[in-house]
Formats: sequence, C-alpha cells, structure tokens
Amino acid sequence: MIQVVNLEKTYPHPTKPVTALRGISLTIKKGSFSLLMGPSGCGKSTLLNLIGGLDHPTTGEIFIAGKPTRDFTDTEWTALRRSEIGMIFQFFNLLPMLNALENVSLPLLLRGDRSVEAREKARDALVGVGLESRLEHLPSALSGGEMQRVAIARADAICPKILLADEPTGNLDSKTGEDILRLLASRSQQSGVTILLATHSKQAISYGDQVIHLKDSQIDRIEEP
Ligand SMILES: Nc1ncnc2c1ncn2[C@@H]1O[C@H](COP(=O)(O)OP(=O)(O)O)[C@@H](O)[C@H]1O
Ligand SMILES: [Mg+2]
Repeated sequence: MIQVVNLEKTYPHPTKPVTALRGISLTIKKGSFSLLMGPSGCGKSTLLNLIGGLDHPTTGEIFIAGKPTRDFTDTEWTALRRSEIGMIFQFFNLLPMLNALENVSLPLLLRGDRSVEAREKARDALVGVGLESRLEHLPSALSGGEMQRVAIARADAICPKILLADEPTGNLDSKTGEDILRLLASRSQQSGVTILLATHSKQAISYGDQVIHLKDSQIDRIEEP
C-alpha cells in the first residue's frame, strides 16, 4: 500500500541544515498496523508528513497504492487527504473558532458531503472516541486529551484507506489510550485501513503488525511482534 524507497529529507537552513531522514526504505502492507518508534527528534513526524504529502522529500520516492507520488500536485494531495489519507497531528491542528462537531465535519463538507450527512458522520466519529458530551464545545474548552480525541475523530470520519497518526495517545491516560488503540486496531482489522502510528507508548506494541524503530534519522530495526 505504501512503499518508501531511499527517502531522504534535509530541512534547509543558511548555516545548519538538518537531515531528519536518511536512506529510509519501507513497505507497509495494505490493512496492516505499523508502529513508528524512536526518541524525540529521530524523524517520526517528518516521515508521516512526507507520506501524507504535507512536505516533499529531498530525494527518494514514496509510492501509494503503486503510484509514485513525486508528481502529485498540492491540489491532488489535498483531495487525497480529504478522502483517502486521514492524518492525526501531534499538535491536533483543530480550528479554534469551530466546536468539536464542526471541526470534524469540516473536511467532509470541503470534499462535498451533504451537510446533514457530514454532521451525522462527525457525530458518530465523536461518539466513537467517547466525546458525545462535548460535541458543541470549542477546543479552548476541552482538555488536551479531549482535543486529541477530536483530532482522531476528524481523521476517522472521512473513512480513510490510510491513517497516519502522530503520537495519538500522547495526551491520553492509559485507559483512554487503550480504548483509542483498540478503535484504531479495529479499523485495520475490520475495514482494512492501513495504519502508520508514531508513538512512544509500549502499550501500543501489542497492536502492531510491525514496529519500525528509527534512530538518528535512520531505520535501526524492524520487528514483527
Ligand atoms: N520544519 C523544520 N525545519 C527544520 N528542522 C526541522 C523541521 N521539522 C523538524 N525538524 C528537525 O528534524 C528532526 C526530526 O524532527 P521530527 O520529525 O519532528 O522528529 P520526531 O517526530 O521523531 O520527534 C529534528 O532534529 C527537528 O529539529
Ligand atoms: Mg514528532
């Protein structure tokens, strides 16, 4: 489903460019649940952003469903992220003026879902992450863990084929984190969603089909627990 070949990413800087990824090659099978682990700064978010088309590799290739992504336009990437690639951001990226239901509905409306349907899907996704009592709250009235769950619901509501999740349980207590991991695992097992999830959580390991360990911008090892 996702193939990464010899990927390298260097962030330019006049005096101190940073190479965040070097020589990364990976295969992520359709419907699998892959974990991305490694110390802070090892390149996890960079890799997720490149696979989601939010930034471009310096060299190397990413194939999604067999297609090279190098020539995708920003418009094509945007359309993909509204329908096929769900992204859960490390820092949520919720819109502060929109309540939970509106935040989750927005990508659905932007891709052309009818407004009644969009609200329905958004509500279901929020109920799925345990936020039925927070539908009309603004992000500023939510705890970090609740904002994180809104961000998870927003990615889930589009029914993506690929889900890229950046430390989605980082702000959750272990019980809620476990519920979220179980929800995501059911998306891969029952709906065939391909999941790549960056995490520090040991709790997550038992859900992974493969664990990709990054270290110093490179793949240290890949385990199949
Ligand atoms: N936009 C950016 N500009 C410059 N350097 C960046 C940028 N984003 C990340 N980096 C650097 O790239 C490296 C990898 O960062 P990141 O992918 O965020 O790691 P992780 O998610 O594993 O903590 C770090 O050294 C970080 O400082
Ligand atoms: Mg990160």
